[in-house]
Amino acid sequence: MIFSHRDVNLILDAYEKGKPFFLYTGRGPSSEAMHVGHLIPFMITKWLQDIFDVPLVIQLTDDEKFLWKDLSAEEARRLANENAKDIIALGFDVDKTFIFSDMDYIGSSPDFYRTMLKVQKCVTFNQVKGIFGFGDSTCIGKISFPSIQAAPSFSSSFPQIFGGRKDIQCLIPCAIDQDPYFRMTRDVAPRLGFPKPALLHTTFLPALQGAMTKMSASDAVSSLYLTDTNAQIKKKINKYAFSGGQATVEEHRRLGGNVDVDVSYMYLTFFMEDDDKLKQIREDYSSGKMLTGELKKELIGILQKVVSEHIERRKQVTDETVKEFMTPRKLKYNY
Ligand code: TRP
Repeated sequence: MIFSHRDVNLILDAYEKGKPFFLYTGRGPSSEAMHVGHLIPFMITKWLQDIFDVPLVIQLTDDEKFLWKDLSAEEARRLANENAKDIIALGFDVDKTFIFSDMDYIGSSPDFYRTMLKVQKCVTFNQVKGIFGFGDSTCIGKISFPSIQAAPSFSSSFPQIFGGRKDIQCLIPCAIDQDPYFRMTRDVAPRLGFPKPALLHTTFLPALQGAMTKMSASDAVSSLYLTDTNAQIKKKINKYAFSGGQATVEEHRRLGGNVDVDVSYMYLTFFMEDDDKLKQIREDYSSGKMLTGELKKELIGILQKVVSEHIERRKQVTDETVKEFMTPRKLKYNY
């Protein structure tokens, strides 16, 4: 699920010597319907938070989606709260986690704004043109947005959490498409006297139709939503999940299935906890002992459980809880 990193070894070496770090990740709230692929970086982030017991900041870029999509500012802000509920439902600890909407937090935090400004002063139009493909007709909101995604990488943006310290290292778990923002961030960090953020890159969950595509929240048949019923999950996987199996049972028994293109198998690599069982499935499917229907049945059972449990936990998340997570405050750590 994680296929590359930048400087995580440095974070770990420093951690062993007692030097603190914090986690930063985010989500662009472009739609109400999050799909199971969106869970991956957050599940990894939750696991890291549990293991290392460090502060976590989660940026909801309602401003980004307002600028890039056909969304009103009000609607983008509302979606940020809806997505916050899905994120909170994964079990993050309110004493260790600050979730913020850019639209709300930036206006309330002089330190965040100053950090943004420092980044803005170091990056030229020519540089962001090269990194993000901006051009002469790109609106200026987009041109300055990368500084907003960069700012949470620096502890100076959160004085209420870090007591004004500017030297706390940051680790960012993110999907690979976010890397350009953080290459830019790492480039400017030394000039600002801040540590460079470290990165963990997660892969995309492929769309049901095949590994060449990523799951898209706006394409109903390519995605498994976090709101799907058991029946919908079963139907979508049986009907759409691209299969590496053979055309007939006889051929399948003789030639075996191809796990490298089989989407159901790929999903199992993400969602099946038991590695030994996964290995057995790989062998049995490849040898032809296991049929596509049987493989899909395993996946359907697991995802029905993942999604229905998510729905239950999300129901417990009230507006009050969202507000608690999103209130700027000190977390349980002292600096
Ligand atoms: N731009 C990201 C998106 O569209 C949201 C985001 C902001 C993010 N900060 C981040 C993602 C840090 C990962 C890590 O989804």
